[in-house]
Amino acid sequence: MRVLVTGGAGYIGSHTVRLLLAGGHDVTVLDSLVYGHRAAVPPDRLVVGDMADPKVLDAALGWGAEAVVHFAAFAYVGESVTDPAKYYANNLVATLAVLDACRRHGVGKFVFSSTCATYGVPTAVPITEDEKQLPINPYGNTKLAVERALADYAGAYPFGYCALRYFNAAGASPDGTIGEDHDPETHLIPLVIAAATGKRPRIEVFGTDYPTPDGTCVRDYIHVDDLADAHIRALGKLGPGAQLRYNVGTGRGYSVREVIQAVEDITGLKVPVKEGPRRPGDPPELVADAGKIRRELGWAPKYADLRAIVQTAWNWHQGHPDGYADRPGRS
Ligand SMILES: NC(=O)c1ccc[n+]([C@@H]2O[C@H](COP(=O)([O-])OP(=O)(O)OC[C@H]3O[C@@H](n4cnc5c(N)ncnc54)[C@H](O)[C@@H]3O)[C@@H](O)[C@H]2O)c1
Repeated sequence: MRVLVTGGAGYIGSHTVRLLLAGGHDVTVLDSLVYGHRAAVPPDRLVVGDMADPKVLDAALGWGAEAVVHFAAFAYVGESVTDPAKYYANNLVATLAVLDACRRHGVGKFVFSSTCATYGVPTAVPITEDEKQLPINPYGNTKLAVERALADYAGAYPFGYCALRYFNAAGASPDGTIGEDHDPETHLIPLVIAAATGKRPRIEVFGTDYPTPDGTCVRDYIHVDDLADAHIRALGKLGPGAQLRYNVGTGRGYSVREVIQAVEDITGLKVPVKEGPRRPGDPPELVADAGKIRRELGWAPKYADLRAIVQTAWNWHQGHPDGYADRPGRS
């Protein structure tokens, strides 16, 4: 299949591009490199540009693309609260520009990076796709708005989509050549590794009095290659009118303390910890019921255990202690 991957130089996108290429698909990546990394994708596949620009989109789709896998977005929840305009402009308005371009070019298959943040504070855990989507921040609102647009488009145009609601993406390619490099980093596993290796003074634990087994927040960590695999399976299932929505997680939650312990076990290093109060807007427990994607797409995580995920993140970190080292001020 000929596939355009927006945001393909980012964390999850780059792992998906690699899997698509390994599966014999023809791939073009469109990335502004605002957060992505040139070195994360093969140079002959990369178009650098902003998806908000219709001319850029025409160039990126005009080679006969049949499908779009759409990762490009901003994903800092806190920043979405302080600067929602930035999030609506990129995550919603620019995504609508991508959808318009799909219509212009007759592209009828679309896989979208949605998120468990569209559920807000769930009424039941594990979370099924039937849980009400009531986001509690602008980031989640923009993702839900795109899901709604996709459903309306699929009802009206020759177009099918799959919204994959990721839980916490984690880990890296097991060969250690591509991995997670966000700047700023907000994700727990790389932050804990940074504290273990002395790149950060400590890890802060926000809240130790949640109604969870050890009082800290519980999340469902899903390996980035397992996420990538979900996209490829979704592409294979899409046809006109398809409206697919799946949670993508392992179905097993780990607490913040368990993540810290796993990093200490894998690295053999001590993690300095500072315990503090809860952060507003953090639900106690977010764990996927991923039964639907298992049943309908035959998907199953290869990395079901947190230690195996942390091991891949550690492999990446050891080979790339400064990530891709392509940002000013970083060696
Ligand atoms: N990482 C997670 O745990 C997680 C969880 C749920 C959902 N998601 C979603 O998955 C997607 C990928 O996440 P990630 O962690 O890989 O993020 P990332 O920031 O590493 O990747 C996003 C990529 O999109 C690019 N981009 C942003 N705006 C663009 C634009 N206007 N035009 C072209 N390129 C643009 C960035 O340069 C970056 O390379 C995002 O949509 C995010 O909201 C991520």
